[in-house]
Amino acid sequence: MRMVDLIAKKRDDKALSKREIDFMIKGYTDGDIPDYQMSAMAMAIYFQDMTTEECVHLTKAMVASGDQIDLSDIEGVKVDKHSTGGVGDTTTLILAPLVATIGVPVAKMSGRGLGHTGGTIDKLEAIDGFQVELASDTFNKLVNQNKIAVVGQSGNLTPADKKLYALRDVTATVNSIPLIASSIMSKKIASGADAIVLDVKTGSGAFMKDLAGAKELAQAMVAIGDGAGRETIAVISDMSQPLGFAIGNALEVKEAIDTLNGRGPEDLTELCLTLGSHMVYLAKQASSIEEARQKLESAIENGQAIEKFKAFIASQGGDDSVVADPDRLPQAAYQIDVVARQGGYISAMVADELGIAASMLGAGRMTKASEIDLAVGIVLKKKVGDRVESGDTIAVIHSNQQDVSEVKNKVEQAYTFSAEKPSPYQLIYDIITE
Ligand code: URA
Ligand code: CA
Repeated sequence: MRMVDLIAKKRDDKALSKREIDFMIKGYTDGDIPDYQMSAMAMAIYFQDMTTEECVHLTKAMVASGDQIDLSDIEGVKVDKHSTGGVGDTTTLILAPLVATIGVPVAKMSGRGLGHTGGTIDKLEAIDGFQVELASDTFNKLVNQNKIAVVGQSGNLTPADKKLYALRDVTATVNSIPLIASSIMSKKIASGADAIVLDVKTGSGAFMKDLAGAKELAQAMVAIGDGAGRETIAVISDMSQPLGFAIGNALEVKEAIDTLNGRGPEDLTELCLTLGSHMVYLAKQASSIEEARQKLESAIENGQAIEKFKAFIASQGGDDSVVADPDRLPQAAYQIDVVARQGGYISAMVADELGIAASMLGAGRMTKASEIDLAVGIVLKKKVGDRVESGDTIAVIHSNQQDVSEVKNKVEQAYTFSAEKPSPYQLIYDIITE
């Protein structure tokens, strides 16, 4: 078999067979197929698309390229959740303890943030002493005992995806639905999940800016999950403005504590209840989505959810007194108000720009190697649909530098005002089950 023939085949819009895809992915991972041929293939896929069958083969070939996590020592249906990324997305910190309270085993591997999107592992490190590295037997034991453990990515998972994703990044082929879908699903499957709940974002802060694209991506991922024998559902949710109010690591931990106490932002709480009820249902801990949701609401109301968060922190060596006293989390030296320069309704926000503004303060990484400042970030005071008067505070910048003029400009520019009340905000657009 020759790679050049496979490139020609895809260029001419023909489907590749399982054998051909296996040959290509193995050859590329081993270094027998050079980057220039894989680049041409990625571009051919970008223009010609792939069938569901091809996507399933590609995903399985990427899973087989490296280690696979074995969670079989953990009792119950392991349901993983994945979000396609966004700004101020604190859902994992809330969902993990919340569904664990209902008996769903959460054996979660999470990443660090890069660029303007955050990562759960960085957020957890804002808690003094919290260990994000655990030996695999300790990890399994914790999940069996407490139903929850979260660790950083380790081992050699999906090396084919790592190599291909880096190549796509520099060849203008990231934004291809079959390539995104197989990339995300290969990592979820290699991490050992039995079932997967996807949160596919749409809007200015998302990969897929429009709803049609988000739906297509969601359908591709659900089809891959089914083809690989992992029950998968996707929720399509809004990322046209940041989720919740907090953007920044320690600030988001505080927001998670508020939410688990039943005092969280409405959008963040609602998204967690929606994603969580699907997780509980797929884990067979409720006989309907409605029952699952009721269980989750009760866990917040009766205090079990926040207790679980506390126990989770302690079990991984963290200072659990932050739950009762969030002021013990890292605090920035300065809090600087951003005020509205005009009155009116907030009609739109640019989520990416707010993520970049938080990154500029030090909350996010510019490169993989950069150090981040866990204390800094932005807390939004006003969001889409809110009415403001000129001079009202719309956001507060938490900074360790006194001069934040550049960041302030960026935050101001991320807001659009209008005289008329905008149409009601929609958080959940669709749920894709097949
Ligand atoms: N996230 C991934 O993991 N892979 C992609 O291709 C795009 C987003
Ligand atoms: Ca948030």
